Amino acid sequence: MKLCFATRNANKIKEIKDKLGDAFEIVSLEDIQCKEELPETTGTIEGNSAQKAQFVWEHYKINCFADDSGLEVDALNGAPGVDSAMYAGVHGDSEANIKLLLKNLQGTIHRKAHFKTVITLILNGDTHQFEGTIEGSILPETKGQEGFGYDPVFLPKGYQQTFAEMSLEEKNKISHRSLATEKLIQFLQSTP
Ligand code: IMP
Repeated sequence: MKLCFATRNANKIKEIKDKLGDAFEIVSLEDIQCKEELPETTGTIEGNSAQKAQFVWEHYKINCFADDSGLEVDALNGAPGVDSAMYAGVHGDSEANIKLLLKNLQGTIHRKAHFKTVITLILNGDTHQFEGTIEGSILPETKGQEGFGYDPVFLPKGYQQTFAEMSLEEKNKISHRSLATEKLIQFLQSTP
């Protein structure tokens, strides 16, 4: 079966190809000649994930899935959430994003947070969502050099190391993205 993963991130495409094996042909947005910026305007991770998949299904009529992830902090009513990538204003500026997050949490002992990934699959017009979350807390300062985004300040519940102190392999065993991806794969592999 041919499936479009609505992303331009080559690492994400490679990861899912490796996990799915030959039963599925995974194609990217480039492969289907999609040059437009996918809409992400719903204000929620679930909504944006669905919106991106819906866009590809409607415009390219191909079975597809899209993902959306973010960090939701309890004391900030779920922020940065859907704005995680550009919390401080510049897309992908992790240092500035972390700095703003720590500033906004200064003085609070309520530091519970979770990472969330929602994958929306549209298969023959039917929509399915798969969610992965990992609970944890936000440290008052950064620890570790690995990973990306908010990894240096995220301490997963029950662990002594931040995501940025773990190897990619260790992080992938418990991460929100891996959990959601596993659910998608199980669904696809059980679909006749
Ligand atoms: P995306 O939807 O996968 O592009 O994720 C959006 C943003 O959420 C990223 O740019 C990061 O700021 C944040 N984020 C998502 N997953 C992670 C993670 O595993 N570690 C750290 N930050 C993450």
